[in-house]
Amino acid sequence: MATQQPLLQPVQLGAYELPNRVVMAPLTRNRAGDGLAPTALNAIYYAQRASAGLIISEASQISPQGMGYPGTPGIYSDAQVEGWKLVTKAVHDNHGRIFLQLWHVGRISHPSLQPNGELPVAPSAIAPQGEAATTEGMKPYVTPRALETSELPGIVDAYRQAAKRAMEAGFDGVEVHSANGYLLDQFLQDGTNHRTDNYGGSIENRARLLLEVMNAVVDVWGSERVGVRLSPSGTFNDISDSDPKALFTYVVERLNDFKLAYLHLVEPRTGEDAQNPARMDALTLTSSYFRTIYNGTIIAASSYTQALGNEAIANGDADLIAFGRLYISNPDLVERFEAHASLNPYDRSTFYGGDERGYTDYPTLNLQTA
Ligand code: PHB
Repeated sequence: MATQQPLLQPVQLGAYELPNRVVMAPLTRNRAGDGLAPTALNAIYYAQRASAGLIISEASQISPQGMGYPGTPGIYSDAQVEGWKLVTKAVHDNHGRIFLQLWHVGRISHPSLQPNGELPVAPSAIAPQGEAATTEGMKPYVTPRALETSELPGIVDAYRQAAKRAMEAGFDGVEVHSANGYLLDQFLQDGTNHRTDNYGGSIENRARLLLEVMNAVVDVWGSERVGVRLSPSGTFNDISDSDPKALFTYVVERLNDFKLAYLHLVEPRTGEDAQNPARMDALTLTSSYFRTIYNGTIIAASSYTQALGNEAIANGDADLIAFGRLYISNPDLVERFEAHASLNPYDRSTFYGGDERGYTDYPTLNLQTA
């Protein structure tokens, strides 16, 4: 018998024994229903993908202020909890496990998406380059309002409340989104954090908000059911740091103290970042680098193929691999990897918003051969 592919080997992830190392990455699909509550259609979508070792939900705002795109689900109202119960039940009925991703977008928003048309908030009043996705199309980002020091306990508490609601909704755990230029990443990186209080300046100060959020969320869930996502090399959402290696080395060292279920790393996109001389340092911030610092389980993400994923696990660079676009178009990705089957191509035009088309209608292998 052929040895099993590394991706298909079981693994312990915090409190859970997973049947394989194939993770469904968090994917924004902008299809929440009324009140930004998940719907029966969303439940079908996640249930179709339940053979993943772990599903990480799409990023879900912890408060109305945390929202930055049309149609993304929340985890702050009773109706949203009821909607998420449809999702968690459908995934569990299909023998899967699902963590909720806790999100606050910070400055990556627009007044038209904010309560009472207010300015988005951020560590400092620095506008991102680029345009916000609003319900009336793309609009230039505005200069956000810098959060007062006195408001930060309220932000930490919003994470705590959202973590509690995720538990009520039947999730198996939560992932703190500290990647991709959203609020917690904006605090970490000095391109966006020019604060002069205890939450800005030194690396220790810039990491403070994330570590307080981790404490609050671990307090609710226990460390074995909490993960965190970082993108040390990313430039998405106009994020930048003068010394990402020093910053993220410190952050990951501190995260060791929590004994989390996992650290989820968005790896350098060598294709794009290799063109950018300013990002050469960031290119070294791979999972194999963080492996030398982090003591726990690592999920790696970034355009992995089946072959590259198997190789990364076999090399010891990562323990699990998250797949995003491949999961959009292949609900039975695990079964396809098992069979070394071909994959459905994805249709980018149906990634963000819309109905069941490009969402729950991608065929499985069985359907194709029937
Ligand atoms: C997006 O909606 O484009 C998006 C959301 C969360 C991410 C990355 C991208 O982490």
